Amino acid sequence: MSVVKLPRVTLGHWPTPLHELPRLSATLGGPRLFVKRDDLTGLALGGNKCRKLEYILGDARQRGIDTLITSGSSQSNFALQMAAAGRRLGMEPYLILVRGIHSETQGNLLLHSILNSVVNILDVADPIEMFTTMPKRMNELADELRRQGRNPLVIPAGGTTPLGTAGWVNAAGEIAQQLREQKIDARYVVLTNGLGSTQAGLILGFKCLGLPIKVIGISVLNKKAAAIDLVVTQASETAGLLGLEVTVTPNEVTIYDDYIGQGYGIPTGECIAAIRLAAQTGGIFLDPVYTGKAMSGLIGLVNRGYFARGDTVLFIHTGGVAADFAYNEELSR
Ligand SMILES: Cc1ncc(COP(=O)(O)O)c(C=O)c1O
Repeated sequence: MSVVKLPRVTLGHWPTPLHELPRLSATLGGPRLFVKRDDLTGLALGGNKCRKLEYILGDARQRGIDTLITSGSSQSNFALQMAAAGRRLGMEPYLILVRGIHSETQGNLLLHSILNSVVNILDVADPIEMFTTMPKRMNELADELRRQGRNPLVIPAGGTTPLGTAGWVNAAGEIAQQLREQKIDARYVVLTNGLGSTQAGLILGFKCLGLPIKVIGISVLNKKAAAIDLVVTQASETAGLLGLEVTVTPNEVTIYDDYIGQGYGIPTGECIAAIRLAAQTGGIFLDPVYTGKAMSGLIGLVNRGYFARGDTVLFIHTGGVAADFAYNEELSR
């Protein structure tokens, strides 16, 4: 039974599949590898935000929200998922995005034009403004919409809130059940770490269940210390929301920050190679911003002998595939 008892709207099809990647494992000469397919949630083109949105919008629906506002990079996957969910529930999506390296009408932005999302793309000196000046801009927009008689909700970038993280506490239970049913003794989970909410939810969820699974985050944005801080904060705020007597300490959070390359949203050579390898050995598509880098981290850890041959590792596919079309030049080079 789930520890998460909060208002929820169903936006995805659960459980998402969990299957083995034997050819990837054989090619790497590494541990047994499995993948949890949250790219197949069924909302828009899939991804880790669907689980977050089920609780964020469950709460919003109870409060009579009719307009959703978020921010992010121009190819933000959360913005797309939020917009698609909003359209399904009759809540109009407003986006304040920061111009990234791909702001053409491609990938997620192409899908926004089909959804008729209200998109405002800003030129900022430093992409970090996404997290500094954006909350203020979103609140100003919300005030303006309230004056027009709307009831808007501002959702922080990436759905990084305790309600969103609760979706991934719940996912830990779903994964535990699949591992049990399929008799898979996975000791490691590897996933992308962006703003840390997905990793925080999984660590908290596995801890509540008493499962000794190590959750390894491959950072695509922050250096290790800052990334650990974000995970600990999300885990503790979410434990508070859910009334859990469980804490997550910094030494329980494992993050690798050596696969970021030049920066957020700039694919490394290893990321492109990992995307090709996952497709050519497993028939699955990763993305150039998040999951490609996470897979390059998993491959890096296998190559440096981090896992024993007999270990079993579960990779979480957190989605993002729409961005492949925006990054067509980098991917087809
Ligand atoms: C495809 C994909 N994977 C992973 C993440 C990272 O999730 P989190 O911010 O919860 O660490 C994101 C966040 O934007 C994403 O879009």
